Amino acid sequence: MAKSEKKLAKKQKKLDKKEAKKLRKLENKQYKIDKKERKKAIRKAKKAGTYKKEDFYPADNRIRVGVVGCGGIFNAAHVPAYFKERNRVKVVALCDIIGERAEKAKKRFFKEADVYTDYRQMLEDETIDVIDICTPNYLHSIIAVDALNAGKHVFCEKPDAINPEEATKMYEAAGANDKMLMIMRNNRFNPNSRYLKEYIENGNMGDIYVAHTRWLRRRGIPGKGGWFTTKELSGGGPLIDLGVHMIDLAMWFMDFPKPVSVACSAYSCFGDSNVCDSANSRFGDKVEGGTYNVEDLVIGSIRFENGAVLQLEISWASNVEKESRSVELRGTKAGATWTGSHVYLYEENKKSKQKTRHVSVAQIIPEHAENISHFFDCLINGDTPNYQMFEGNMMMKIIDALYKSAENDGKEIEIDVFE
Ligand SMILES: NC(=O)c1ccc[n+]([C@@H]2O[C@H](COP(=O)([O-])OP(=O)(O)OC[C@H]3O[C@@H](n4cnc5c(N)ncnc54)[C@H](O)[C@@H]3O)[C@@H](O)[C@H]2O)c1
Repeated sequence: MAKSEKKLAKKQKKLDKKEAKKLRKLENKQYKIDKKERKKAIRKAKKAGTYKKEDFYPADNRIRVGVVGCGGIFNAAHVPAYFKERNRVKVVALCDIIGERAEKAKKRFFKEADVYTDYRQMLEDETIDVIDICTPNYLHSIIAVDALNAGKHVFCEKPDAINPEEATKMYEAAGANDKMLMIMRNNRFNPNSRYLKEYIENGNMGDIYVAHTRWLRRRGIPGKGGWFTTKELSGGGPLIDLGVHMIDLAMWFMDFPKPVSVACSAYSCFGDSNVCDSANSRFGDKVEGGTYNVEDLVIGSIRFENGAVLQLEISWASNVEKESRSVELRGTKAGATWTGSHVYLYEENKKSKQKTRHVSVAQIIPEHAENISHFFDCLINGDTPNYQMFEGNMMMKIIDALYKSAENDGKEIEIDVFE
């Protein structure tokens, strides 16, 4: 990340934090005022013998949400989204196997929520409309299927699941129960992503035939030794953790061409290294002496039916200069580089002179909150979902094939996305 981008991102983070704090303060203040006034009015009505419960507790028509997993991403990104959505949505239940985490979230943010340590008990509450899943990856499909079968809509953190088979169970359960299932694709809601998407859709790039994406961390293994670095629980390392973001974004820009084959190499060099820990990742709990059986760097490529190729390079730890994140697209009319806070466009002007344009759209509302609001827009207003299950299916098959290729010395592996 360039110095100016880092500065911008830091400033934005500070602003987001400040805004969330302000909202929380306002919400708490209002909650206290409402409670005090209601109590006073109830006392008065009881004294006058006119008390009727429904007069004081009017029907609350907000969408009722139960959250499973009150760890890193829930606190960092979902809580601010629910504060933003408080007029349409109410968090009524919080579940975490570490009960204190759910209790803490109740105390700090959602005072009226019920607390659970077993999500299956939470699903028995028939008044809950939506389940929001923020747990380790292997639980996404298990909890989503149970929730959909219990008649709830589901919003789930990325990745869809730990493998294509598990993901398919989720898509089938959503279809069978006629409920909405949406997986977090927050990068699509970044204003610079939207700018570039519109630029592409307006035909400015021509045909995109080559793309390159990278998210390289120099040091940043999430929860080293914990679920993130245990293949059975996470599905893999940075490819399934960070790669889902970048592959999705690149393919979204490319309008989801059909993938036909992949090739990949994976490396695991930092499991035993004491120069590499989780210091640069705020997600997951670090476990001393825990499991580390995933990769920390992948390099690979995806070939599409239309002849286009997407190259990728993703790491949690790698001896590079600094962390960087980008999608580079090459089209027949123009090229582009996306870096999160910037877009660079490589064009020609009317006199066929080369021209580079720089665009940087400020992020007013954090992208995760935007994605969550979009889910409620679809549920409440019937908006068309930005995320389609076939895209998740493609993603899971690509990731699975990339891992298979890495296990087979980088051999090209064919993909059949429409079985
Ligand atoms: N979209 C993003 O930018 C982004 C960023 C970070 C993480 N994530 C995703 O969010 C998910 C959670 O990641 P995290 O960083 O918050 O992890 P985390 O370990 O910090 O939090 C997970 C929480 O789930 C709880 N949990 C585990 N098993 C449970 C169960 N059976 N029932 C209820 N709770 C249970 C844990 O106790 C923990 O509090 C992962 O799937 C991850 O890939 C997404």
